[in-house]
Amino acid sequence: MKQLKGSPVAQKILAEVAEYARRVTLRLDIVLVGHHEASQIYVAHKLRQAEKVGIKAVLHHLPAQASRTEVLQLLAHLNQTPEVTGIIVQLPLPSHLPENEILETIAPEKDADGLHPYNLGLLAQGRPRWAPATPWGIVELLQHYDLSPAGKHVVIVGRGRLVGTPLALLLSRPASYGNATVTLCHTQTPDLLAHTRQADMVVLAMGRPASFPAEGIKPGAVVIDVGIHRVEGKLVGDAAPTVAEVAGAITPVPGGVGPLTVACLLSNVVRLHRAQSRSQ
Ligand SMILES: NC(=O)c1ccc[n+]([C@@H]2O[C@H](COP(=O)([O-])OP(=O)(O)OC[C@H]3O[C@@H](n4cnc5c(N)ncnc54)[C@H](OP(=O)(O)O)[C@@H]3O)[C@@H](O)[C@H]2O)c1
Repeated sequence: MKQLKGSPVAQKILAEVAEYARRVTLRLDIVLVGHHEASQIYVAHKLRQAEKVGIKAVLHHLPAQASRTEVLQLLAHLNQTPEVTGIIVQLPLPSHLPENEILETIAPEKDADGLHPYNLGLLAQGRPRWAPATPWGIVELLQHYDLSPAGKHVVIVGRGRLVGTPLALLLSRPASYGNATVTLCHTQTPDLLAHTRQADMVVLAMGRPASFPAEGIKPGAVVIDVGIHRVEGKLVGDAAPTVAEVAGAITPVPGGVGPLTVACLLSNVVRLHRAQSRSQ
């Protein structure tokens, strides 16, 4: 069983970002609302990595009770600030805040997470300018390990807006490292394992710690485990430990998809800058 480690791929992407950032000034503004524990860790990591590659990163940490108006006004201000290259709003937001309206307020040309409907629309049309970082990172990982999904049956478990749905669009588009036949499964899929057992590649993006069983994997299949959960002090994915015994190749947790998410977010800032420079 081959381990598909994300770090070498992430290092390569980060080196390209750093090279670009030596020539121009890039700035990423991160909006964090409240004190969601995992979000605070992710944001600290994004800030650290951004600074390492020479992107100025600015955190706007609002209190958990921040109002819709406060968040929208901050985003409007960042949209108007020429020094700001990219903006992200860390999800999840506290439940009183309207997530869709907030994501739609980010200017599409500053939308570093690629979650604005305009950018998701371009992705749905098969011509993304940039894409949500985690699925984009998975495509980079497949390229690095020369695992083309073309002509393969890929089963994605989870239709979330951050991972499953955009990944289905990326892998099925008529493009390099696309052209897969994709099945997108979720909680309403009857007999889930009957689908995954047919897959040449299974992507686990369901957010259920160490729960996906080895009997759902065809021997030799590629498994991309997107889940990341802290259980009894240890980081685990969505795959049960025995999945690695059946898979032909698998992303480890930690050290698989995780490092690629931040690297691809930062490479999105480069893409934003290029697009902004072209439109001036
Ligand atoms: N490694 C990283 O860097 C990274 C980055 C981002 C996200 N993640 C992880 O990736 C996972 C997906 O993220 P997301 O934001 O896309 O998640 P999400 O929006 O919560 O979506 C989870 C999806 O999984 C489906 N699901 C849950 N349990 C299932 C089950 N037992 N059988 C079949 N489908 C099931 C849900 O189905 P329904 O739609 O029917 O509810 C839903 O579509 C999460 O674990 C998240 O922590 C990791």
